[in-house]
Amino acid sequence: MHTISDYQGYFLEYLSKKTITKEPKNLYDPISYILNLGGKRLRPTLVLMASEIFGGTYKDALDAALAIEVFHNFSLIHDDIMDDAPLRRGKETVHEKWDINTGILSGDAMLINAYQLFENYEGDTFKELAKLFTKTAIEVCEGQQYDIDFETRDDVTIPEYIKMIEYKTAVLVGAAMQMGAIVAGVSKDNKSSIYDFGRLLGLAFQLQDDYLDAFGDPETFGKQVGGDIIENKKTILYLKALEFASKDEQKQLKGLFSLNPDDPSEKISTVKHLFETTGAKDKTRLEIEKYTKEAFDVLDGLSITNDKKSILKLFGSSLMNRSV
Ligand code: IPE
Ligand code: IPE
Ligand code: MG
Ligand code: MG
Ligand code: MG
Repeated sequence: MHTISDYQGYFLEYLSKKTITKEPKNLYDPISYILNLGGKRLRPTLVLMASEIFGGTYKDALDAALAIEVFHNFSLIHDDIMDDAPLRRGKETVHEKWDINTGILSGDAMLINAYQLFENYEGDTFKELAKLFTKTAIEVCEGQQYDIDFETRDDVTIPEYIKMIEYKTAVLVGAAMQMGAIVAGVSKDNKSSIYDFGRLLGLAFQLQDDYLDAFGDPETFGKQVGGDIIENKKTILYLKALEFASKDEQKQLKGLFSLNPDDPSEKISTVKHLFETTGAKDKTRLEIEKYTKEAFDVLDGLSITNDKKSILKLFGSSLMNRSV
């Protein structure tokens, strides 16, 4: 095993080697722009780690790691169009820097390129990776559609929300871990446990993303703080606030989430205040801890050594406390 920062380094080196600069520029420039904007590289790191945890090599997992990161970045370009987001990783989003059509097509090419990367695997490994990827990618689309549908609903339940974030975010984290396991050729039981670990960690990850969207530091967060409030997103903060609000507060919150004011600053500050006074902010922290712990419980059932479990736990804990 290597350290987490080693895996990130191996991935970045591979990414720089594989970055394509081809014509037409307006198709490929946005692709290398988004892929080189930085980001935490969480998912590819997990692919490489999982491979070595199960006795494979990180080298064999590099193409799967790149496929997952290219897919993730494709989904961000399209997500930023759908969410009308101006900022990504502290820089202009692709559709702001170029335009919406460019974002759509460069995103499409990235999705295809992600598939193409699996062609570097042979026989059964190829088939298994491609099958998992297809299932995951269609679930991400389903999750993204629920997310958009929920913007205009005022009766979204917490179980519906959990299903939505499971699909839009968590399944890809689960798939990242499982792909590492597939490359390493592990047993069926371990493959499904490591998927579940990733899925639960992915749920905690999206809860933390919702939390930071409202309470992150605008200097370091890299995205527009309050973006979810502007878009009337039914996040965990919003749903917990409704759960614990008085009747008057519920009415106020639902009212605010039916508006799209030209200047959203007052809406954002009132909603954030409600997230605090209702206790939603603290409850969200507890939910993040709950799902992280559930992920750790799954690890106990895995047949890997304790030092490997510790590395995964360290990684999970760092996600729970991140500020970006
Ligand atoms: C953002 O993912 C989209 C979500 C699923 C929350 P990340 O927070 O992993 O984004 P980067 O790649 O680090 O920028
Ligand atoms: C994004 O969820 C999930 C996908 C990109 C599939 P968000 O819309 O919350 O992600 P951010 O906050 O823009 O990164
Ligand atoms: Mg978004
Ligand atoms: Mg979104
Ligand atoms: Mg978000």
